[in-house]
Amino acid sequence: MNLADFFAKHRDQFPALQRRRNGMQSVFLDGPAGTQVPQCVINAMSEYFVRCNANHGGLFDTSVESDRWLDESHQAGADLLNAADPTTISFGQNMTSLTMSLSRALARTWKPGDEVIVTRLDHDANFRPWILAANDAGATVRIVDVHVDDCTLDLEQLKNYLNERTKLVAVGCASNSVGTINPIAEICQWVRSAGALTFVDAVHYAPHRAIDVQAFGCDFLACSAYKFFGPHLGIQWGRREILEDLLPYKLRPASDDLPGRWMTGTQSHESIVGTMAAIDYLVSIGKELGASHSRREHLETAFSAIERHESTLATDLIQAISELPDIRIWGISDPARVAERMPTISITHSKLTATEVAIQLAKSGIFVWHGNYYAVELSELLGCEPEGMVRLGIVHYNTSIELERLIAALRSLSG
Ligand SMILES: Cc1ncc(COP(=O)(O)O)c(C=O)c1O
Repeated sequence: MNLADFFAKHRDQFPALQRRRNGMQSVFLDGPAGTQVPQCVINAMSEYFVRCNANHGGLFDTSVESDRWLDESHQAGADLLNAADPTTISFGQNMTSLTMSLSRALARTWKPGDEVIVTRLDHDANFRPWILAANDAGATVRIVDVHVDDCTLDLEQLKNYLNERTKLVAVGCASNSVGTINPIAEICQWVRSAGALTFVDAVHYAPHRAIDVQAFGCDFLACSAYKFFGPHLGIQWGRREILEDLLPYKLRPASDDLPGRWMTGTQSHESIVGTMAAIDYLVSIGKELGASHSRREHLETAFSAIERHESTLATDLIQAISELPDIRIWGISDPARVAERMPTISITHSKLTATEVAIQLAKSGIFVWHGNYYAVELSELLGCEPEGMVRLGIVHYNTSIELERLIAALRSLSG
């Protein structure tokens, strides 16, 4: 079976994909704003409520069982990120809240004269928290620019900004707006050589490629389960020695051990368990495809297949859009460079606003996002504000037939 057929079969596991509009199946291209969930995630969350809905740390059956599921979920999170230690995985409301909280703790260690580096390619959740934290500490912020022609980071500028005063570099693995993938391992290596820490935003990377905190060589990394087929939940990883050393803003009775000291208040246990189920859904793809043994190996097999399938769809879509009059693709648009980008394609129309395009597509049952998707700096730099762009976000459950419908709908808006 080829990969397109293999992944088409997986659509049956996602009940939401059956949705119809005017008799036509809906086309979900809104994945970068949140993916749909497979039935196993829905089942795990409802099973949690039925079997062991209890608070953490009790001595009775449901609490003990709940804690066992939570511990297993930390292990699943560690396997997803290739972290050696499950207690270095924290869960929280979303990536933004976790980053706000970590940035406040880190800012306690900064002083005037220290420097923090952020980029214009990033989502505001990996930009604004660091600006606010730096301002509180009186530290200086350096902002790395983006090459407008292909929306890649100005890596020379990033390197030039690094010096002995640099405390932290906050950088994304991939742009949620134009899909650019950053050379994250290389960046982390430069930052480490300068004696600074790296915080990596892997939210947009997570549904598409295998995250590997050890290979990246970062110090912190965050992602969100609702972008990789799970419930609304944030995940954060940090190096054990730093997480133990830093002083989080926390309540007195809350645990001082990992991971408790970084997990503020009572958690959404059902979402944590649902996140483990989402990870195991990805594992099941790897199991079907290969002869690997561990959860991590299955994940790597799964993501390698996902990457190949999505790259084919993205290449075809870019090629087809390039032939349409009136439509511009932002970012890397050379099909030969598809490995440098995610299958997340932002476009603008020369005669219609992003809102008008999104409305027309919605009428055809095609769900896309419009605006700046919180990648505010980039949208401003590209001159796309205030309307922004239209984002066509492919994930592994999308098909070439869906993209043909998209192209036909876009063609009807051109000329
Ligand atoms: C690249 C990126 N980073 C961060 C975020 C924020 O994530 P959350 O909604 O979990 O706070 C998003 C959400 O769209 C994103 O796409």
